[in-house]
Amino acid sequence: MRILALNSSPRRGGQSRTEMMLNCLVEGMRDAGAEVEIVNLHEKTVNNCMGCFTCWTKTPGKCIHKDDMTKELFPKWLASDLAVYATPLYHYTVNAEMKAFIERTLPVLEPFFEQQDNRTVHPLRQAPPDAVVLSVAGFIEMSVFDQISNYVNFLFGRHMRLLAEIYRPAAEALASIKDKKEDVFEATFQAGRELVTSRSVLTETLDRIQQPITDFQTFSQIGNLYWKTCIAEGVTPKEFQEKNMIPRPDSLETFMLLFPFGINVGVIGDRKVYLQFIFSGEETDSCYFIIESGNVDAKEGKKKSPDITIETPFEIWMDIMTGKADGQQIFMEQKYRVDGDLSLMMQLLQREKGN
Ligand SMILES: Cc1cc2nc3c(=O)[nH]c(=O)nc-3n(C[C@H](O)[C@H](O)[C@H](O)COP(=O)(O)O)c2cc1C
Repeated sequence: MRILALNSSPRRGGQSRTEMMLNCLVEGMRDAGAEVEIVNLHEKTVNNCMGCFTCWTKTPGKCIHKDDMTKELFPKWLASDLAVYATPLYHYTVNAEMKAFIERTLPVLEPFFEQQDNRTVHPLRQAPPDAVVLSVAGFIEMSVFDQISNYVNFLFGRHMRLLAEIYRPAAEALASIKDKKEDVFEATFQAGRELVTSRSVLTETLDRIQQPITDFQTFSQIGNLYWKTCIAEGVTPKEFQEKNMIPRPDSLETFMLLFPFGINVGVIGDRKVYLQFIFSGEETDSCYFIIESGNVDAKEGKKKSPDITIETPFEIWMDIMTGKADGQQIFMEQKYRVDGDLSLMMQLLQREKGN
């Protein structure tokens, strides 16, 4: 099976969620024996359709543009058995790069009018490849894909077969939840295999790809802090990722939500560790974390005889947590206090670079 996989995300450097998902799908397809070519549309010139209808009149089947679409992509698309349209969801549908590609497939149609199921259609000049649509979105709910789904079913459902629609909501957030991300990626690989072996994707596989990663409350709390941090620090999401930053908590509640993501739970082995914070300054509350069997549970208030207690002004700890201040140096300057197992605390809170 010859497959052309089109990626229309403009993001590069490992940032694109569309690309991550597409790579998994393609790996699965190759694993099942398909010959797949990935085309990143941002590396190609695909001019906008001019609406001149030259491809229907003077040069039937041939576009007037002399760009990568005419010379390379349109012939490759026609020669494929299957085309994967992988697009980020922009304003609830395919993005402009993908739309430009789709519009430029006009030469595959003839100009005449026919009727099919009470709808006007143009007859095909040549047989186009079957279609698979893959899209990722920032929002958390599956219904965010309703419009693109309607569109691609209408578009691809008439002249070709739409074999599968693969949608991943909360795609930006997914990247920071390691176990869920791995499961979604594995399921996407599986979808690739299924498409080659049976030309469809099982409902169980789609359910795994679309699995919820959290509730709206947590999603929006962390997401809003993330954007506030980007604005306050003047960084783009790409720079945020490159600088290995984390969102800055602005209350005890958001601290309790975010702090567990930075704990190296693996270092405690079979132990159960209580790590307590007593805050002063901007926040004067206390909380503690119960770290056990790879999990971290956050509780408000104080714990009797915790293993470690950190007494600190809230804003100082937030500077350390977000990498704005060096924890060890500030400790030497006695701006916060640690009671209990200091070396365990350092192991638990050591930040890995590049994650
Ligand atoms: C111009 C623009 C429009 C977007 N529109 C939506 C949208 O309608 N719904 C949504 O959930 N996310 C939307 N997003 C978020 C993207 O879908 C999300 O960031 C996705 O991860 C982008 O894919 P990529 O990482 O492959 O580039 C939009 C992003 C941009 C830049």
